[in-house]
Amino acid sequence: MPTFTDYIQKHKKRFLEELFSLIRIPSISADSAYTHHMEAAAKAVQAALKEVGCTHTELCATNGYPIVYGEKIVDPKLPTVLVYGHYDVQPPDPLDLWDNDPFDPVVKKTANHPEGAIFARGACDDKGQMFMHIKAMEVMEQNGGLPCNIKFMIEGEEEVGSDNLEDFVRANTKKLANDVILISDTGMLANDIPSITTGLRGLSYVEVELTGPNRDLHSGLYGGAVANPINILTQMIASLHDDDNHITIPGFYDKVAGLSREERDEMATIPFSLEAYQKALDIESVHGEEGYTTLERKSIRPTLDVNGIWGGYTGEGAKTVIASKAYAKISMRLVPNQKSDEITALFTKHFMSLAPKGVRVKVTPHHGGEAYVMHSDGLEFQAARKAYLETFGKAPLPMRDGGSIPIVALFEETLKSKTILMGFGLDSDAIHSPNEHFGVFNFLKGIETIPHFYHHFTQLFQENR
Ligand code: BES
Ligand code: MN
Ligand code: MN
Repeated sequence: MPTFTDYIQKHKKRFLEELFSLIRIPSISADSAYTHHMEAAAKAVQAALKEVGCTHTELCATNGYPIVYGEKIVDPKLPTVLVYGHYDVQPPDPLDLWDNDPFDPVVKKTANHPEGAIFARGACDDKGQMFMHIKAMEVMEQNGGLPCNIKFMIEGEEEVGSDNLEDFVRANTKKLANDVILISDTGMLANDIPSITTGLRGLSYVEVELTGPNRDLHSGLYGGAVANPINILTQMIASLHDDDNHITIPGFYDKVAGLSREERDEMATIPFSLEAYQKALDIESVHGEEGYTTLERKSIRPTLDVNGIWGGYTGEGAKTVIASKAYAKISMRLVPNQKSDEITALFTKHFMSLAPKGVRVKVTPHHGGEAYVMHSDGLEFQAARKAYLETFGKAPLPMRDGGSIPIVALFEETLKSKTILMGFGLDSDAIHSPNEHFGVFNFLKGIETIPHFYHHFTQLFQENR
């Protein structure tokens, strides 16, 4: 097997510079003011794919932002790896909480990244992680060639729900045919404790609107006599959890796949320091569902969280007013067997029933998606295990994660293939937050580990044919 380490060492400065160029394009999918940057980012990804040796690349138009496709088919008899990633990023705000321009990357040392980390929006989620795969292809091409076929599908709407990707995948099952899907868009435990994500949570996301009186009212003239939508909304939201922090929506837990005692015991062996966790977040104590550990609460249990709440007067000083309307955005993270549409319906029914007569309630569903679990005994996990053993000197721990990549469940349904989630980010990398960053070590380790995965997967695939 070729050694990739020397090549990466020799070219790492350029790899970083190339990533920085991609990061400098503010590809914010949620904000239509950035449309031209989205197109520029898609073109930059396409060019990068061409540069490293894809023999066919294209920008696939959708009803939204283009999907970048690239491939190199070495030999139809060899297995095919399909790489998925996204070139869109979350909006960077609040801007004043950043220590640098979010779209002008700088490298700084942190406690978890003594070798330096790249600070920028998208550094970890997902430009840095996605770009590792493009550079991994270069590493393979320049050191003996690809051991198998490769396809890339890099979308621009992951952060806004991947609506158009779903249609694209359903319409292109032949083009996307593969033997395994490889994604780096998750995390690992620590730089010296590699892990592989074996589960993602599903998502149901709704927006609620309460309307009381037909106009904003003087809170002295009307206060006490009419329902205040903000008061009511906060009461309704508060009632969605009981004193033990269980969710009170009838039927919410009916289909939740529980874990066996053995599975929970195994989870408890994952190295995790509650003290360090609390310290990193500046909190005195964790908070969550009674009867479950913190690791369980953030991965195998469903949750409900308000993501935003607004209404009334929030400007300077005081204004005595009862607002006509109050709003909130609410997300529910789901676990295997809970269906996103069903949960949205259960929420809607229950939430409407909570409202007193003096207010009207509107519930609007946003995007959703199903949870995903993979088994750690498949070929893809074995191949990844061997790769990590080589580059980290340690076997990766299987670990369920709390985030969502809804398209993964759809891949399994439509393309009938398994996904391996080789994430190299850390929880402390602040994805979606100000000062998002990605370790230089992680970036380079990813580029090094991925080619080993290709080699082992190809080998195992052929042995098991
Ligand atoms: N890369 C994340 C998901 C993630 C991060 C999973 C870390 C596990 C560990 C992805 O870009 C993301 O942010 N997903 C959204 C869902 C999407 C529908 C907007 C999420 O999880 O909130
Ligand atoms: Mn992501
Ligand atoms: Mn994200």
